[in-house]
Amino acid sequence: MPCRTIAIANQKGGTGKTATTLSLGVALARLGRHVLLVDADPQGDLTKSLGWGDPDALEVTLANHLSAVIEGEGLEPREGILAHGEGVDLVPANIELAGMEMPILMAMSREQLMNVWLSPLKADYDFIIIDCAPTLGIIPVNALVAADSVLVPVSAEYLPASAMTALLKTVGRVRRQINPSLSVEGILITLSDGRNNLAHEVEQTIRAQYGGSYRVFETVIPRAVSAAEAPAMGASIFSYDGRGKTARAFERLAEEVSGRG
Ligand SMILES: Nc1ncnc2c1ncn2[C@@H]1O[C@H](COP(=O)(O)OP(=O)(O)O)[C@@H](O)[C@H]1O
Ligand SMILES: [Mg+2]
Repeated sequence: MPCRTIAIANQKGGTGKTATTLSLGVALARLGRHVLLVDADPQGDLTKSLGWGDPDALEVTLANHLSAVIEGEGLEPREGILAHGEGVDLVPANIELAGMEMPILMAMSREQLMNVWLSPLKADYDFIIIDCAPTLGIIPVNALVAADSVLVPVSAEYLPASAMTALLKTVGRVRRQINPSLSVEGILITLSDGRNNLAHEVEQTIRAQYGGSYRVFETVIPRAVSAAEAPAMGASIFSYDGRGKTARAFERLAEEVSGRG
């Protein structure tokens, strides 16, 4: 089975991108898939959530790999990949990634750097999942160029707004100009509180507005206290609260994602 590379993106913060990257990745690993997670946010939230509490202390991060592509340095593409106890590998990020914006913008083929670095890794994995920062800057664009598809988490706590329209526009632009095979994996409703009327309204609005043009995943990710606590433990929701509703939702999402083939 060829590797599928999925960018998790939405330029709005707090929509569950990092939680989705981590939990979907671990859920796919539990189905027996080889999974690489890439932290592409200088905040390093994914890196911290997987238990590397001080990302700034890490020797090799995504910033080094992008820099190596620019400078033509001989950094082995697999160097610095961390193995997590729950069966996923991680390329970490820290604040140094923020300092790469300008060098990337000045580089030749500035949109292709992540793709150049990731390409040889695709032989080793079934899924590569990239956690994007909440911007539409050059680093998320690199992720869209390297990806086969983009998965868009949207919070059930706000009616979908211009943020999603802007992202879908960027996806269209990347597809037309650089990566014609980029598709929209789907829209994922997250942070849904079943007792809240707004959550139902948001879900209906998204299915009505976007369901005709894009897949809106059947699975909705519920808001749960345990899911909010898990990142501080450096563990996925599967080891922190494996019987809870959020873990079960991510299992169903993994089946939806892998079933698409
Ligand atoms: N299912 C969930 N239930 C409760 N809290 C969640 C859930 N998913 C994420 N969170 C919390 O919501 C906040 C935003 O989630 P996060 O994944 O970091 O979003 P983003 O990466 O889009 O900024 C974080 O504090 C996270 O721990
Ligand atoms: Mg995040």
